[in-house]
Amino acid sequence: MQKSELKTPYFMIDESKLIHNLEIAKQLKDISGVKLVLALKCFSTWGVFDIIKPYLDGTTSSGPYEVRLGHETFGGETHAYSVGYSEDDVKAVADICDKMIFNSQSQLAAYRHLVEGKVSLGLRLNPGVSYAGQDLANPARQFSRLGVQADHLDSSVFESIDGVMFHMNCENKDVDAFIRLLESISTQFGTYLDQLDWVSLGGGVFFTWPGYDVKKLGMALKAFAEKHNVHLYLEPGEAIITRTTDLVVSVVDIVENEMKTAIVDSATEAHRLDTLIYNEPASVYESSQNGEHEYVIGSCSCLAGDQFCIAKFDQPLEIGQKLHLMDSAGYTMVKLNWFNGLRMPSVYCERSNGEVQKLNEFDYTDFKRSLSQWSVQ
Ligand SMILES: Cc1ncc(COP(=O)(O)O)c(C=O)c1O
Repeated sequence: MQKSELKTPYFMIDESKLIHNLEIAKQLKDISGVKLVLALKCFSTWGVFDIIKPYLDGTTSSGPYEVRLGHETFGGETHAYSVGYSEDDVKAVADICDKMIFNSQSQLAAYRHLVEGKVSLGLRLNPGVSYAGQDLANPARQFSRLGVQADHLDSSVFESIDGVMFHMNCENKDVDAFIRLLESISTQFGTYLDQLDWVSLGGGVFFTWPGYDVKKLGMALKAFAEKHNVHLYLEPGEAIITRTTDLVVSVVDIVENEMKTAIVDSATEAHRLDTLIYNEPASVYESSQNGEHEYVIGSCSCLAGDQFCIAKFDQPLEIGQKLHLMDSAGYTMVKLNWFNGLRMPSVYCERSNGEVQKLNEFDYTDFKRSLSQWSVQ
C-alpha cells in the first residue's frame, strides 16, 4: 500500500515512534520495578496491541467494554475500574479481570460479594492534590466525585481490600512535581498503604516527553514501593502513544473573511474532539513558523468555531493538498463520532520496515447502523 494513494481522512500510526516510547517505558520498569497497564480510555486501537504487548503488563479500563477488550485483545493483567458500576457491569467483568477497583466505599460495600475470591479488590482514593493544567481534567477539583477523600475514609476498609488507586496527574512533565505528590500520598495515607499488596498511581505521568528524567522517576517509585512494601502500578495512556500518529486530511476549499481559511475533510468535533474540549490547537507537519502564508485550518463541520489551528506556510495551500495533523492518537480514535455524517477516518499503521497496513475503514453502513438498526413498525 502506497501512502500517497491513501484516501483522506486517515490516521497513520508510526510503529517506530511507538517503539521509541515503549523502550522508555521498559527503562522505567527496569529501574523501578513498577508494572505498567495501558489506559484503554486513551488508546484502544487493538490492531497495534501486538506491538505494545511485549513491553507492558496489561490494561486498565473505565467501563465494562474496555475491560472485555483488554482481556480479549491484550491479555496480561486486566484492571477493571469504573466511576460508577451497575450490578450488571460488575457481573459482566467479574470473571475476566484480575483487579477490580471501586470508586467509592458504597460501591465496594454493595458489590464486593459478587467478586470476592475471584479478583484482587481495590478502592480509588482521592488525595486532594493533583497536577493538571485544566480544571475539567483535574481529579482534585472542587466537589470531585473521583475517589474517596482522606476525611471520608472508614479506616477499617483497609482490612478487606488488597490495593488502592490514585489518579491525580494530567500530562505531568515535571518529575519533581510528581515526587511531591508521592510524598503527599505517603504522608496522608502511608499507614493504610503499609497494609496493602498494591498501589496504582494512575496515569498522566509524561515520562516519554523529551528530556524527562526517567531515572529520577524510577528511583522515586522504587523508594515509595519499598517504603510501603507494595507492588506499584502506573496506568499510562498518553505517554505510550504521544507523538506516534498523524491525522492526515486534505484541503477541500479555501475561503477568505479577513483571514484565509483552508477547509479540510475532517472536523475536530468528530475526529479530534480534545482540540475543541480543551482548546488545544493541533500542530501541522507542513507548517513553517516564519511562513508568509497564514491560514485557519478549518473543519468541514457545521460548527462555527470548529477549527484545528492557525498555521503559517511557506507556500500558499492548494486544494487537494494533504496536511498532517500531528500527535493525534491519544483520546481521538476512542472518541470518534458521526456528527454531520462526515466520512470517518480510516486507520493505518506504518510498520518499521515501511510497509503500510490497514487496521480499520468505515463506510456509510457503519454510520447508518450507529443511528438505528430497526425502524418503528
Ligand atoms: C484512572 C485513570 N488512569 C489512567 C488515565 C490515563 O491518563 P493519561 O492518558 O494521561 O496517561 C486516566 C486518564 O484520565 C485515568 O482517569
